[in-house]
Amino acid sequence: MKPEYEGKAKQILTTSDPHIVIQRFKDSATAFNGEKYAEFLGKGKLNNAISSWAFTALHDAGVTTHFLEHENANDMRVKRLKIIPLEVVVRNVVAGSLHKRIGMPEGTALENPIVETYYKRDDLGDPLLAETHVIALGLADKETLTNLYSQALKVNNVLQPVFKKAGIRLVDFKLEFGCDENGTLILGDEISPDTCRLWDWETGQKLDKDVFRRDLADLIETYEDVAKRLGVKVQ
Ligand code: TMP
Repeated sequence: MKPEYEGKAKQILTTSDPHIVIQRFKDSATAFNGEKYAEFLGKGKLNNAISSWAFTALHDAGVTTHFLEHENANDMRVKRLKIIPLEVVVRNVVAGSLHKRIGMPEGTALENPIVETYYKRDDLGDPLLAETHVIALGLADKETLTNLYSQALKVNNVLQPVFKKAGIRLVDFKLEFGCDENGTLILGDEISPDTCRLWDWETGQKLDKDVFRRDLADLIETYEDVAKRLGVKVQ
């Protein structure tokens, strides 16, 4: 079956139900806007299993997500959404591009979590947008943004303690939202070591895609470690 959408790390496949699609996790990894690329055998099934676990935990805590079911090793069934072209980043600790932008040392705990919106536009390098820009571009209205911030913070409130129990510091993560056929705002995409910064609580060891971005460690061993700590079974 030909995917109806092909991204850098996932595909979207049509099903017989117009409101449901298959989200397929690929073994490829990219960084720096696709400049760096590699294949990691087994990455897709790890991210599918970890994402399925995260969406289930969120569902149990009352957060609506697009997740319906873990279908097989690389596939999950999800609700079809019209994705808002924003990368919504939640940060608990200074790292990555925030460190570069404001100069505070990496690892500085933020007093309150920050929610940021980036324009999902590879050709522009996914620039940071102020709320005024998001509204001016017509990507979301004020009410939708308020809802989106509150859902993003709820995701943080739910996931932070579960990661902590597994000895992992949830430093920051990226979310994507979309609307279903009724226009309801729903959390989509994935939540995996590709889209989160995860640090060992004691040592600060990096347990996420930064191991690939910065050539720090073996990606598959790292993601397997995350799955094991969270008690996630991988097919
Ligand atoms: P940043 O510090 O590079 O802005 O990244 C913030 C978080 O967002 C980090 O957990 C990694 C994640 N992220 C993605 O999932 N996709 C991306 O394209 C980028 C740039 C970051």
